[in-house]
Parts: sequence; structure tokens; C-alpha cells
Amino acid sequence: MGDIYGAERLIPVKSVQVAGVSFRNIGEAGLEWISDLKGHVVVPSILNPAGMDLRRWNNMGIDEEFASKQMKVIEAYERLGIFAACTCTPYQINSCLANRNDHLAWSESSAVSYANSVIGACTNREGGPSALAAALVGKTPLYGYHLDENRKPTHEIFVDMELNGSSDFGALGYLIGKIVKAGNPSIHLNKMPDTDELKALGAAMAASGSIALYYIKRITTSPSKYSGFNETISLDKKDIDSVFEKSVGLDADIVALGCPHCSHSELAQIGKMLEGKKICRDLWICTARQIAETNSDLVEKIERSGAKVICDTCMVVSPATDHYKKMITNSGKALVYLPTLCNVEAGLASMEECIRCATEE
Ligand code: F3S
Repeated sequence: MGDIYGAERLIPVKSVQVAGVSFRNIGEAGLEWISDLKGHVVVPSILNPAGMDLRRWNNMGIDEEFASKQMKVIEAYERLGIFAACTCTPYQINSCLANRNDHLAWSESSAVSYANSVIGACTNREGGPSALAAALVGKTPLYGYHLDENRKPTHEIFVDMELNGSSDFGALGYLIGKIVKAGNPSIHLNKMPDTDELKALGAAMAASGSIALYYIKRITTSPSKYSGFNETISLDKKDIDSVFEKSVGLDADIVALGCPHCSHSELAQIGKMLEGKKICRDLWICTARQIAETNSDLVEKIERSGAKVICDTCMVVSPATDHYKKMITNSGKALVYLPTLCNVEAGLASMEECIRCATEE
């Protein structure tokens, strides 16, 4: 990788996040390759989501053959010393994995965006094998987002409306990714977003485009020297509304929240919205196992409605999504990937509307 990208040298990394975990994506060849590897990681390393809830896969309608192969993938990674937390939000479960100015080798695009833009760390978007290599040697080649010269803001974006909630920020990210494609946008907002909104924004931009770093005043520190923007873009309510319009008339057979994986605060909001209600169509809430375990009271409250809190996986990487045709979600990232990777029609709605859709005929 260093030779390909002209890197001068290798630099140490603080942590690694390894993708290529869902058996659906890697298949027999991937399983064989990982199983043959020998060695042990030398820095804290964590897995991206797998193709199923590792404990309650039965509950998702996953067949035994897939489950057995998926567990073999997990065991092979564990033999290398990688922590099988299986989440795209490693920063939510262990704040020691990444801090400001740390160099990392993370794989999952929304986690990469969050690390670069919100935490202030530096990481390229690693492929599965390059992340694994970084975990085994504790180093990565010095190129791309590890260098200040590639972190300069490229586009200036003005947003003329007040955005509220992850779905609004997902819609904004969806639009910016489509327009900017592969730059480092500097975004001017009317209000300061919270961390859930930032994770939704970065996830959507990385999916509809390939943006791994964005700037928001008082959140991301910009490099000291940069000379102007390539382009200035203005977006307003009608642009944001156009993303939601895709949902009109979508008669969903499932509603799914938690792309990227839900935080404690999102579980609390969902629990409150579901109080005293029963679902009338399938409702998945995807989160990291550690978040579910430390919030077991919220999980119980949510599941009392008939909804499923699903750990270790998500609506995009699990083959269980194949059982459905139309999905409503509050995620701009899932809005991009469900039709393209899963052949499922998708619509975007706010968390409140998602819960209403799941609980009202
Ligand atoms: Fe995470 Fe799956 Fe979305 S890996 S960012 S929940 S597509």
C-alpha cells in the first residue's frame, strides 16, 4: 500500500477497525483466507458489523448454515486477537480507541468520517486486508488523510435552514455526498449538531459520495494553511425536503433504525416513543452489543412493543434483510445502500415518523 501511494514511511497507529466481517460479503474465499492467517495483533483492534446478531441470530430468521460460517469468521478474527465487538461505532463503546491527533487504521466509512471530522484523529478508509495488516504490525503507510496537505477544506457549503434530528442530517449528508463526491466540505449550519446528528451526517456523505472528512466550526480543527475553496454551494429547505419526498407512498414491510449503530441517547428516545405501543410491522433497532448490555432496561422497554433490538449487525450487511421489499429508515446512509446493495426499496423519515409507521396501521 505504501509503495502504491508513494508513502515515505510507516507510522504507528493507536487502534484498528477491521471490515470484511459479514459472511455475506466475504464468502467462502474470505473465510478461508482469514482462517489461514497466523499472528497476533499488536494494537487494540475491533471488528465491523457481522451478518447477524451473534447470539440471537435465530430471532432474525438467519439459517443455520450461514450462522455456522459467520461464527467461523468471528473465531478466526478472535484467534488473531481482534475484539469481536462488531460495531461501526467503536468510538461509542471505548473512547480510548481514538483521540485528537491520533493516527488510526479504521475501515468502516462512517467511523472513518467520525474519527477524522469529530474526534480530530487521522485515518484513511482502509480495506479489510490493509486494516488487518495494520493491526498485525501496529503501523500504516503515511499517505492520504495522515498528511495535512490532504486534509484541506475543498468546498464551502451554506445550509439555510435549521436541521433537527439524524434524518435531517442524513438528508443533508446524502445531498453533499452527491454534489461534492470526493472532497473535504466545510459546512456552515444554523445550529450546533449533537453527536448523533454528526454521525448521521458523516455516514450519509461517505455513502452517497466518498467523503472521509468534513469541517464544522467549533467541531473540526482545520489545518493552519489552506488557500480558498474549489466551490461554494448553498442548500435550503426545498433541497432537504426533496430527499424525504422519496418516502411518499412507500408502503414499508419493515422499519429499521440504527445506521450507524444507535447510541444510548437514541435508545432512550426510541424507548420513550414506544411506551405503551405495539408494533404492527417489523421494527429493528441496530446497536452495538456493549451499548445494548449497558442499557438493558431500555432494551427491555423497547422489546416490550415487539420491536427487536439487534446487535453485532445491521440492515445493510445482514442477509436477513432479503426477507423484505420496502424499508423505512431515518438513515441517509441506509437510504443509499438498501436499494443498491440489498435490492430493497428505501424511504427516509424522521425517528418519530419511523416509530409511527411501525406502530400505526
Ligand atoms: Fe453501520 Fe451498517 Fe450503517 S455497518 S453505518 S449500520 S450500513
